[in-house]
Amino acid sequence: MANQVPVAWVTGGTGGIGTAICRSLADAGYLVVAGYNNPDKAKTWLETQQADGYQNITILGVDLSDHAACLEAAREIQEKHGPVSVLVNCAGITRDGTMKKMAYEQWYEVIDTNLNSVFNTCRSVIEMMLENSYGRIINISSINGRKGQFGQVNYAAAKAGMHGLTMSLAQETATKGITVNTVSPGYIATDMIMKIPEPVREAIRETIPVKRYGTPEEIGRLVTFLADKESGFITGANIDINGGQFMG
Ligand code: CAA
Repeated sequence: MANQVPVAWVTGGTGGIGTAICRSLADAGYLVVAGYNNPDKAKTWLETQQADGYQNITILGVDLSDHAACLEAAREIQEKHGPVSVLVNCAGITRDGTMKKMAYEQWYEVIDTNLNSVFNTCRSVIEMMLENSYGRIINISSINGRKGQFGQVNYAAAKAGMHGLTMSLAQETATKGITVNTVSPGYIATDMIMKIPEPVREAIRETIPVKRYGTPEEIGRLVTFLADKESGFITGANIDINGGQFMG
C-alpha cells in the first residue's frame, strides 16, 4: 500500500557520498531506498543508520548493469513504498590505469556501472514520474568528467556521458514537472580517494584552491536542494562542487 511520504531511490547509497545523500534526504522527510552492491556491508550499514535514528532509510540490492533487474527494483519500490519521486544516481567505481595498460574489462566494468546503470535506472522510473507529473533526477558525475584525468579514460568518459543523458532527458521532461540535473563533485574525502597512491593524492590536493578535500555532507546538501519541489527551474544543469579545482 503506497504511503504519502515521498520516496527517494539513491543508487550507491551505502557508499561514502551516497551515505551522506541518504541521510540528508531522510532529514528532509523522504523515505530513502539505498541501493547497494555488497549485501554484508549493506546489512551493517543499515544497522548503523537505524542506530543513528534513521528509521526512514531502507536498502535494496540491485545489479545496476542489468536492465531487467532495474525495472524489477523500481517496480518493487513502487509496490512497497510508493512511486519514486527522487532518483539519485550515485553508484560508481574506479578502475584507474593509463590507456596503454588498461584492460578491456577495466573499460567495460566502469562504463557498465557508471553509465549504463544511469540509463537503466532512469528508464525504470521515467514512466512513473511522467504518470505523476513530478520527478527529480540527480546524476552524480565528477570533476573528471568535466576536465579529464590522467589514468581515467574509462571513468571520465562515463561521467561526461552522464551529463549528455542529463541534458537530453531534461529537454524531454521539461514540461512534465520533472527536472534532471548533474552534480559534479571534485575530490571528496571517501574510500575511493584513499585508493589513489598517497603522493599522487597529495599532489592533487595541492591543486585544489580551497586546499582541502570536500566532505560527503557538502554533496548531500546540494543534492537535497536540487531534490526540493521548489527547485523546479533548475534543469539540464551541471553543478560543480569542487573547491574551485575546475571552473568551466
Ligand atoms: N600527470 C602526468 N603524468 C603522470 C601523472 C599525472 N597525473 N601520473 C603519473 N604520471 C606519469 C609518471 O610520472 C610516469 O612517467 P614516466 O613514464 O615518464 O616515468 C608515467 O606517468 C606512469 O605511467 P604509468 O602508466 O606507468 O602509470 P602508473 O601505472 O604508475 O599509474 C595511475 C597510473 C594508476 C593512473 C596513477 O597515476 C593514479 O592513480 N592516478 C590518479 C588517478 C585519479 O586521480 N583518480 C581519481 C580517483 S577518485 C575519483 O575518481 C573520484 C572523483 O570523481 C574525483
